[in-house]
Amino acid sequence: MDNKEIVIVLDFGGQYNQLIARRVRECNVYCEILPYTVDIKKVKELSPKGIIFTGGPNSVYDEKSPHYSNEIFKLGIPILGICYGCQLMAYSLGGVVTPAKDNSSSEYGKTETFYNTDDVLFNGLSESGTSWMSHRDYISKVPDGFTVTATTAVCPAAAMACPEKKLYGVQFHPEVNHTDRGTEMLRSFLYNVCGCKGEWKMESFIDTTVAKLRDKIGNKGVVLGLSGGVDSSVAAALLSKAVGKQLTCVFVDQGLMRKDEGDFVEETFTKLFDMNFVRINCQDEFLLKLKGVCEPEEKRKIIGTEFYKVFWNKIRENYGTGYFAQGTIYPDRIESGKGDAAKIKTHHNQVGIPEDIDFEGVIEPLKDLFKDEVRAVGEKLGLPHKLVWRQPFPGPGLGVRVIGEVTPEKVHILQEADAILRDEMDKCGYSEQMSQFFAVLPGVKTVGVMGDARTYDELVAIRAVTTDDFMTADWAKIPYEILGRVSNRIINEVEHVNRVVYDITSKPPGTVEWE
Ligand code: XMP
Repeated sequence: MDNKEIVIVLDFGGQYNQLIARRVRECNVYCEILPYTVDIKKVKELSPKGIIFTGGPNSVYDEKSPHYSNEIFKLGIPILGICYGCQLMAYSLGGVVTPAKDNSSSEYGKTETFYNTDDVLFNGLSESGTSWMSHRDYISKVPDGFTVTATTAVCPAAAMACPEKKLYGVQFHPEVNHTDRGTEMLRSFLYNVCGCKGEWKMESFIDTTVAKLRDKIGNKGVVLGLSGGVDSSVAAALLSKAVGKQLTCVFVDQGLMRKDEGDFVEETFTKLFDMNFVRINCQDEFLLKLKGVCEPEEKRKIIGTEFYKVFWNKIRENYGTGYFAQGTIYPDRIESGKGDAAKIKTHHNQVGIPEDIDFEGVIEPLKDLFKDEVRAVGEKLGLPHKLVWRQPFPGPGLGVRVIGEVTPEKVHILQEADAILRDEMDKCGYSEQMSQFFAVLPGVKTVGVMGDARTYDELVAIRAVTTDDFMTADWAKIPYEILGRVSNRIINEVEHVNRVVYDITSKPPGTVEWE
């Protein structure tokens, strides 16, 4: 990113590192996360306005604990160490970090903290407040030249500062919401210590990106695989603004989307945006390939393989020149600070291009943005709210929500049931409180009674979760009245369904999807 103002978040393996970066960006300062293995030459080249050392799971005394060259403290660049980062700063500069012998020095969770409000980080805040702690070792003596700027009942140095060298450290996590006014502390570091001006705004991102895209693409064509998900949709809107009809979006409708979703995507991009929109309807081919297949991983493989076959064949026919664009976003390509610096995460957003297609290059207009920034850009570009805030939807679509063999009849039943669920959740304003919710067709028939007649029909399951990261998730506590209405409507309105159940399994041990 050729941004003028950049802050580096040096990743020592902590769990909140992306959150730190997001908070910095929320303060309108562009930042990048780099692994602690990054060469100091690169740090100097980037000429950051400031550096933030993240937390990490280690003790500075662990044999394998991540350290960094002490030269970094001599560059004259302001540094803020957080948690492990604070301990590392103290240890590297001659302070004393006392290893936890028992649990008497550990602090986990909300902790009452006392601040020296003369310190620049805490200036204007209250003299005491809650901070979020997560540490065992503690700093028992700050390095020469530093003063203690915050304490807790068990932590003699909950924060330290050496204003002369612009070095600061906090034992707690200001990036976590549980720390009262934590974002203001970060903001103070960025603006009052680093001297940032706050140039990172989504409006200016759009303007500069559009100008750069025009410059790069010239009069060539650009093709984008549009799934209707947030990332590819925002990428499409941005490219449309930049080059209009030079953009072709290829949308593969494999028949496994939710009810009316294909039409909604088509309508959005043909009516609201200037571009060539190509929809490939291949429902029948996909269903034929899935005939008789029950094993989840095999289904996923078939759907994925077919998808790329159809997609690339279309590209070969007409659009195999010019540029290829994709909706890669920043978290898809962040290198982790957990040691293996060479390995960059591969992700479904980063597509392998077949060797026989010779594009001029790949364009990833959102590659520096976090998801919330992508959404903000989408809103500003006029994408419908429903699309910008769309829940995650698995690539194999309803193929993994119809359990067992996928047939047109089962897909139809599931689409209808799912549409009722979404309608009711929208009506009562619950949709946006859920991370994800959907209906599942387990392929189980049960006995029921309707009117005076015995029925033997399909069971529909409802799944709804709340989560921050989808690695773990809680089952959502949807009020009974809403569940009751959903159940009634599904049974009355969807033919061949006679029973509805609600999935109350968290992840782990369950996964979000049933297959
Ligand atoms: P699980 O079921 O693994 O789901 O707890 C976590 C999140 O990932 C989504 N998911 C998928 N997304 N292809 C995708 O693109 C897949 O095969 C797939 N399987 C699960 C799921 O919807 C949830 O958001």
